[in-house]
Amino acid sequence: MNTYLIPCLLGLEKLVADELRRQGLQDVQAENGRVLCRGTDADCARLNINLRCGARVMLVLGRFTARSFEELFQGVRAIPWADYLPRDAAFPVKGYSISSQLFAVSSCQSIIKKAVVERMKERYRLEQFPETGAKYQIRFSIQKDEVFICLDSSGDGLYKRGYRAVGVEAPLRETLAAALVILSRYRGADPFCDPFCGSGTIPIEAALIAKNRAPGLHRSFDAMNWAFLPADIWQDVKDEAVGREFHGNYDIWGGDIDPHAVEIARSNARKAGVEDAVRFEVADMRRFRRDSQYGQLVTNPPYGERLMEKAEAEELYRELGRVWRTLPPDWRTLVLSSHTEFERAFGRPADKKRKLYNGMLKCDVFMYGRRV
Ligand SMILES: C[S@@+](CC[C@H](N)C(=O)[O-])C[C@H]1O[C@@H](n2cnc3c(N)ncnc32)[C@H](O)[C@@H]1O
Repeated sequence: MNTYLIPCLLGLEKLVADELRRQGLQDVQAENGRVLCRGTDADCARLNINLRCGARVMLVLGRFTARSFEELFQGVRAIPWADYLPRDAAFPVKGYSISSQLFAVSSCQSIIKKAVVERMKERYRLEQFPETGAKYQIRFSIQKDEVFICLDSSGDGLYKRGYRAVGVEAPLRETLAAALVILSRYRGADPFCDPFCGSGTIPIEAALIAKNRAPGLHRSFDAMNWAFLPADIWQDVKDEAVGREFHGNYDIWGGDIDPHAVEIARSNARKAGVEDAVRFEVADMRRFRRDSQYGQLVTNPPYGERLMEKAEAEELYRELGRVWRTLPPDWRTLVLSSHTEFERAFGRPADKKRKLYNGMLKCDVFMYGRRV
């Protein structure tokens, strides 16, 4: 059995832990900003291809306490590196340290690299390693003197699903958009709307969830080139994922006042292969109306931090509150915002709130259930 460490945005730990349990992983343990679990080699492929909210999948090779460079060196040297890394492996080292005696990250980086080289020399009898082959990114974290030494199996972060155009202003991370859709408990049955859709991330993630389409089906991962993992796990897991897809009719809609954003959203949906499940329209949120009994409104309006001034954002929230009161009472609404005055402007305190980080920006998810 392997131990995996899944880092995630702060506030998403519980959702990631639920995803891991659903994928059949064992000993799932959520900590601050990361979740640990145990699984097989095939789970490395399963997690990379299927996880919606996790940031990356790392294979834990060592976990120990170190308060000195010597302890760090010996801890890393104790790992049988040549069982994982071939003679030509490229093995850059990256990491961070928080609240620990070893705080100089670049020194830790050099010590770790040196310890790996020392251990590899024993097997390969080389003085210098060419590092011309496949990438085995070593990642370390030191928190309160506890060291984790991992191999990053993902490469690009899992939020890079491969469908998003570059150069879009203020887009939402795909992993966070998926988390919002999951928090709304959307399952594909009711109408789903995002009246501030921008580049369409929330409706596209909703469509992937409705179709039960694995988000990582069409991208590659560094571990696909790792020689110590069985080569067939990737295709097997992809086949398994495709076999679980649903084929239904979905009512997923995104609107934005900016025609350029809507064009990008449409093109992203085509790249994600969900253009049959989602519709995008140039539309002003202030004219948003729906009369179906059930539905979900999940959205990420301007915060007034980057896109426009705070007062303008508040005016939009007031309008959103007015629109919300015209919806049938069974609709569920979920709004992500970092604006501290959101509820006051919207005109009603949320039934539930949840703190999340959109990158470094502290946000709240404001949830409104059945209107009574
Ligand atoms: C924070 S961005 C949404 C980003 C989006 N979640 C994404 O992933 O790209 C907010 C969006 O609200 C749009 N917007 C501003 N005022 C609007 C209005 N009155 N009606 C509809 N959209 C509006 C902006 O054009 C912008 O694209």
